Amino acid sequence: MDSIRVRANGPLRGQIPIAGAKNACLALMPATLLSEEPLTLTNAPRLSDIRTMTLLLRSLGVEVSALADGKVIALSSHGLTSTRADYDIVRKMRASNLVLGPLLAREGVATVSLPGGCAIGARPMDIHIAALEALGAEIELRDGYLHAKAPRGLRGTRVALRFASVGATENTLMAAVLAKGTTVIENAAREPEIVDLALCLSRMGAQIDGAGTSTITVQGVDRLAGATHHVVADRIELGTYMLAPAFAGGEVECIGGHLDLLGAFVEKLRLVGLEVEESAAGVRVRRSADRLQAVDVVTEPYPGFPTDLQAQMMAMLCTAQGVSVLEERIFENRFMHAPELMRMGARIEVHGGTARITGVERLRGAPVMATDLRASVSLILAGLGAEGETVVNRVYHLDRGYERLEEKLRAVGADIERIAA
Ligand code: UD1
Repeated sequence: MDSIRVRANGPLRGQIPIAGAKNACLALMPATLLSEEPLTLTNAPRLSDIRTMTLLLRSLGVEVSALADGKVIALSSHGLTSTRADYDIVRKMRASNLVLGPLLAREGVATVSLPGGCAIGARPMDIHIAALEALGAEIELRDGYLHAKAPRGLRGTRVALRFASVGATENTLMAAVLAKGTTVIENAAREPEIVDLALCLSRMGAQIDGAGTSTITVQGVDRLAGATHHVVADRIELGTYMLAPAFAGGEVECIGGHLDLLGAFVEKLRLVGLEVEESAAGVRVRRSADRLQAVDVVTEPYPGFPTDLQAQMMAMLCTAQGVSVLEERIFENRFMHAPELMRMGARIEVHGGTARITGVERLRGAPVMATDLRASVSLILAGLGAEGETVVNRVYHLDRGYERLEEKLRAVGADIERIAA
């Protein structure tokens, strides 16, 4: 398995292009199941998770082709051959469950494997199930699979989500666009990826109001057409690279992003002492302070601080002056990066979902182990500012979410290389 070697190399300077959002694309691709006509996605990121979704959709009979070096994905669902999402694919990626809502809406039946355990917590499906049942689906759990059918078709109704789950909002939205009558999704997730999905569905002819707020209203239509849609920028990739100067010093401009995507994250960056501003082409971040300041962080649904930037933030707070308290409220067990950062000299105490970080002057490079996608990148960032050499092992997670990471960081002056196994 590949590893990545990082060494501090002085301040960073230059531009980093931000790709289309992985999480938006993973919801947009299954939207093709809702229409017989082609769906074309531009600004798609080139990531292994996208390839996994491609394999899943092909297994259902969807024609998927990657054009323009993978940046454009052309999908066509005119001849579906299966309504079953197999365990072998779903276990690799939880987002596979996003075929459930659209398959039910179009075919009236779907069999989707439960995703199983995940390194960052239990991640059950109860909210998805309750919402689809409210729309008239009958869902049974057998042999590790959800067997869903809608014998009388889906019918619009009021659906109140127990928690503003991103995936459950997406599945419900995709089911509701072809349901009979009006669906009102209450306590809907407000993430930019939901807005992007709603925008694409609207281009396909869906009637949706309120995406980006807690109440989404959908007027069901009989059929959807094809469309071409530009995938929104990846706010997690953006936030990750915005943090790079916090570790190495200097200034980077992230091309293609904007601050509205990041909610509470931006304010925290300013509080620690980074200079953050929008530029004509994106977002510019500069570190001129000698030492950054501690800050408390609580992860919350958008527009709160994103859980997918928590590991990177923790890595930064390891060398901030003072004590920071970081509370993870979205996922249980999402602090696997803490012991690895401690191997680099960080002072972190974890009690349940809360981590108390006492800033040290500098981290020291060490061999460390990547345990999940965001944990991997937090260790690479830590290595950018640490004394000596850091080798991050088992980096395959990284390729799920970051396109050409070494290349992008090298272009702004980082000393980083991939060591093929
Ligand atoms: C999405 C993102 C992921 C991000 C997460 C939270 C994608 C492909 N992935 O994941 O990167 O970290 O949002 O911002 O978009 N839950 C339940 N029951 C359910 C569904 C969820 O209890 O039926 C719980 C989960 O266990 C978790 C929390 O709700 O603790 C948030 O999950 P959710 O918002 O659904 O995240 P995902 O859509 O899986």
